Amino acid sequence: MSTPKRIGILTSGGDCPGLNAVIRAVVKCANRRGWDVIGIPYSTDGLIQIADGKYNPDDLILREHGYDMPGILQGLDILQFLSGSILGSLNKGHPEDPVAVAKILEGYRRLNLDCLIAIGGDGSLDIIYELGRKGGWNLIGIPKTIDNDVPFTEKSIGFNTAVQTVTSSLYDLTFTAASHDRVMVVEVMGRDAGHLALYSGIAGGADVILIPELVPELNPPVINQICQEIAQMRHQGRKFALLVVAEGVRGEGGEPVKLVGDYLAKLIANRSCALCQTGDEDYCEMDQVETRATVLGHIQRSGIPTASDRLLAAAFGREAVDLIAEGRYNRLVIWEAGRVRSKDLQEAIEVIRDCHTRGICPGPVETDSTMVKVARSLGIYVGDPNTLAPKTVQDALSVWEAGLNRV
Ligand code: F6P
Repeated sequence: MSTPKRIGILTSGGDCPGLNAVIRAVVKCANRRGWDVIGIPYSTDGLIQIADGKYNPDDLILREHGYDMPGILQGLDILQFLSGSILGSLNKGHPEDPVAVAKILEGYRRLNLDCLIAIGGDGSLDIIYELGRKGGWNLIGIPKTIDNDVPFTEKSIGFNTAVQTVTSSLYDLTFTAASHDRVMVVEVMGRDAGHLALYSGIAGGADVILIPELVPELNPPVINQICQEIAQMRHQGRKFALLVVAEGVRGEGGEPVKLVGDYLAKLIANRSCALCQTGDEDYCEMDQVETRATVLGHIQRSGIPTASDRLLAAAFGREAVDLIAEGRYNRLVIWEAGRVRSKDLQEAIEVIRDCHTRGICPGPVETDSTMVKVARSLGIYVGDPNTLAPKTVQDALSVWEAGLNRV
């Protein structure tokens, strides 16, 4: 039997449902091999505190959970049911601060680890990767984010639960929308990716779904088309409408907008009034259009992890431990074509950096993906198919480069 290993685990970047389920899976799989797992609190901040002597590394060892539960619940492991992260997370890095970097490397050295499992999104994995390169760490990355925009993986931890949360909020908003014949605009997170808005919009019965990959900006032609959709629905007897807009969709002139849901609701209200005043019979009812905006906000990051996220967490955690057992370090665990696999971490980080430098999303919705086709086939307005944004990251990079060449 090989010598027992000592591995570290941390959660970095914005929290999401399913982080605890990954931690639980890693601890279970590692403990069964006789390995110790050290839970690093608050990501790199915890490493700084370890360097400062504020934590004794052996006090950070994680054990299978539940033996501190009261009464007949002794041994009940509730970890996979809980959102957030028992380790805490951090969405700031210190890559530019040499003093902080030196402390982080020192903190890591004191832990005496064979490998670190970092559960993070694109930005946080990039920061941890860079620190690991400086410190010569063995790393395994596990993708998590409600935005689902980590390259190479079809699924990230937390995405499925967020889709469920948004879908159920859309259900809740439908009946108040119907009762008042209102146009409800729902702003959904996702940073510059539209996966969350697209999936939950379809599942929640939205009439219009606006995502940055298909509708980068809310220019007048887009607002006109949306108003026409609303007018047509009203003619057919559906007086209310449900519109989902991803937070990454930009304003009229391509500028970032803080509360894009609110912004869109106002544009629709103004434009529908103007359409009514044209005297065109098709738009005669449009002055009665009442719009309201709801920003779902951080509620999308909580919620009881769905079965699907718990299963993904278990599969990702197990794969990470297996990779370490095989000595296959510096890998990103991914989900691809129905299986767990892994990818060279450096390759993933290079794509992330390339995209960040160019200001584009590293894992966007592909514009010819199944769910885009599904939305269109169901009659959901997702933008004019004739004015499509680039299809893939590669296409987006080429468009960007072509632009540079023209300058
Ligand atoms: O990346 C996850 C995410 O929830 C995005 O969807 C959102 O734009 C951002 O984080 C919000 O970050 P914060 O919690 O720092 O406001």
